[in-house]
Amino acid sequence: MKICRTIESLSSALSSVGQQSIGFVPTMGFLHAGHLSLVEKCRQENDLAVVSIYVNPAQFAPNEDLNRYPRDPDRDIALLEKERTDLLFMPDAMEIYPPGYETYIRVEGLEAALCGKSRPRHFRGVATVVLKLFNLVGPQRAYFGQKDAQQAIIILRMVRDLHLPVQVRVLPIVRDSDGLAMSSRNVYLTPVERRAALHLPKALGNAAALIHDGVRDDAAIKKTMADELAKDPLVCIDYIAMVRLQDLADLVAVEPGNTLIAAAVHVGKTRLIDNLLLGDLSC
Ligand code: PAJ
Repeated sequence: MKICRTIESLSSALSSVGQQSIGFVPTMGFLHAGHLSLVEKCRQENDLAVVSIYVNPAQFAPNEDLNRYPRDPDRDIALLEKERTDLLFMPDAMEIYPPGYETYIRVEGLEAALCGKSRPRHFRGVATVVLKLFNLVGPQRAYFGQKDAQQAIIILRMVRDLHLPVQVRVLPIVRDSDGLAMSSRNVYLTPVERRAALHLPKALGNAAALIHDGVRDDAAIKKTMADELAKDPLVCIDYIAMVRLQDLADLVAVEPGNTLIAAAVHVGKTRLIDNLLLGDLSC
């Protein structure tokens, strides 16, 4: 695996690619099986698999966890070698946002919904860095996780709106054996907090069971979720939402094939998200 730490070395490594197809997986590192599921699919579908690890300062608010975001580059490199990644791009913060940097991408509307309410500049940072990485890597296909469904929806819209020549693939949520969606931030959880966090996937499971039984009404679905999350006082609800995939507008009833049920909670200092997708995300 070739490791590029500068934009210059990345472009020189990519200059010999020729007709080979490039697949790309952007990450912030501290890799887990969710990330690796994207890398594996990327390898299968492309001649070259490119991964980036970059903890993007633009998507963290000043009060968020940028400085303590978990990092373990040596372990990440070993995992990516094992997945037979061809190229890893691991730039310094300064490479991506040099002094005087002031251009940002906003996917208006979509960025304001769901997580955007409590993280107002988060998706502006995500869209900006992803567009920059697409420009630097030039992939035919890029891989994202349904775990961050709003992020995937925003990237899909940015690609459509800006006519970017990249196909976005969105892959299912990978979970630990206890049901918790894998996340780099799960390391923050103490054992007691982790037990409390399990009410989040359980709440979504209860919602899925109600829908399976024919319930369509948003209030009933949100109530079953709120009841589950209320079982542990360590869990603080940020939001529970049932929205349409295209515009993330609130729904009053499940629209089959077109619905995202999403929730965000705080457990201690850790913010966790999870969702249930009743439809398809891809382009
Ligand atoms: P990060 O949180 O490192 O996630 C990188 C990719 O892995 C994202 O597409 C995310 O949705 C996916 N992913 C995370 N947990 C997953 C899980 N349990 N199952 C499946 N996929 C999962 O998301 C980001 O980084 C950043 O915002 C980024 C897109 C790199 C821009 O900075």
